[in-house]
Amino acid sequence: VVDVGKLYRDTGCFTYDPGFTSTANCTSRITYIDGDAGVLLYRGYPIDQLAEHSSFLEVCYLLLNGELPTKEQFDTFRMTITRHTMLHEQMTRFFTGFRRDAHPMAVMVGTVGALAAFYHDSTDINDQEQRAVASYRMLAKMPTIASMAYKYSIGQPFIYPRNDLDFTTNFLQMCFAIPCEPFIANPVLTRALDRIFILHADHEQNASTSTVRLAGSSGANPFACIAAGIACLWGPAHGGANEAALNMLMEIGSVDRIPEYIAKAKDKNSGFRLMGFGHRVYKNYDPRAKVMQKTCHEVLDALGLHNDPLLKVAMELERIALQDDYFIEKKLYPNIDFYSGITLRALGFPVSMFTVLFAIARTVGWIAQWKEMIEDPEQRIGRPRQLYMGSKERNYVPVDQRG
Ligand code: ACO
Repeated sequence: VVDVGKLYRDTGCFTYDPGFTSTANCTSRITYIDGDAGVLLYRGYPIDQLAEHSSFLEVCYLLLNGELPTKEQFDTFRMTITRHTMLHEQMTRFFTGFRRDAHPMAVMVGTVGALAAFYHDSTDINDQEQRAVASYRMLAKMPTIASMAYKYSIGQPFIYPRNDLDFTTNFLQMCFAIPCEPFIANPVLTRALDRIFILHADHEQNASTSTVRLAGSSGANPFACIAAGIACLWGPAHGGANEAALNMLMEIGSVDRIPEYIAKAKDKNSGFRLMGFGHRVYKNYDPRAKVMQKTCHEVLDALGLHNDPLLKVAMELERIALQDDYFIEKKLYPNIDFYSGITLRALGFPVSMFTVLFAIARTVGWIAQWKEMIEDPEQRIGRPRQLYMGSKERNYVPVDQRG
């Protein structure tokens, strides 16, 4: 590892690294990825173990604090988060100001950024207590904001949080309960969504997390930083890929059309890629994709949908791609988004909500990374360099003398 900062100070040299493929911007103790081996650890714990045995809220505690909680620590944490699930009542006006057909991610960017206007008492980043309160607020309010965006888009009344329910059951009831009927949670589906949240909770310095860190490095308030992360996550090469993967599977439609799409993905001039395939860091099977595939089967079985034609297309597409020289040579494997779209659709969410669910889960990762950065004595404002390729200095020419 070369300290390029020191190299620059000593010699004036700096590196050119588009996409930061080989540049570390920070040290971190939160998440470890070995992309060649297909390993993902949160604070040292393998993702498959956490997905199997833990809960999303316990994983939140782990990511934020570095250790798994004792029972007492977890109860206190759960109560703290539960206390913050309500949204300032005036914020409901934000939702009604949007067009009904607004994309919920656009609504999320706007409303989360606006939290700073409602919770001034937790925007001082130099105050440890305020940083903690801002963290709890964002973690707790994100499902409330997301469900309100959903309810508004389908013209149903907002459903308030229920503090007697766990994190994920509460979110599901805010999305799917209607005032005139009791809400009955399906434990298999609730557990599946909780596990999906665990899988998405953090992924070290991905594009949205780096965006949060960069925004935070200027001293911006945490709500603004998380809004910036949500905006970045929306892109189809990042969090929007689950939506794109499902759309692709629907477009393929049947197993016999798969070779046509494989050929298109291999043709550089087509501009088409297999969505849900490939990853900047994983050059092996994404460990989250394995858990997601299992979860997908569990959900479809629980709903009696094991013959879902899209699942058939996905499994056959994966099988063919993994035997194809193009995908083998480029080390392109299914990533977490490949099976998540089918699963989320089966859970009852419209495609436009997929990236919103990702944002709910990733909020804890963004917060943990933001806090780590703020508390790092080495922290300084993020300021990448550039290689200037434009004109040399030249004199201004009045408009009547330009030809
Ligand atoms: N289908 C076909 N070819 C692909 C794919 C794909 N899905 N992904 C990469 N390639 C090819 C590229 O054309 C390139 O070929 P070349 O070396 O001949 O030029 C090579 O593999 C390397 O691709 P890059 O784009 O340079 O790899 P990078 O690390 O920059 O991109 C990314 C990673 C963005 C994930 C890419 O694989 C992709 O676009 N995948 C589809 C979108 C997707 O699933 N995104 C979700 C990522 S996971 C997440 O955000 C949660």
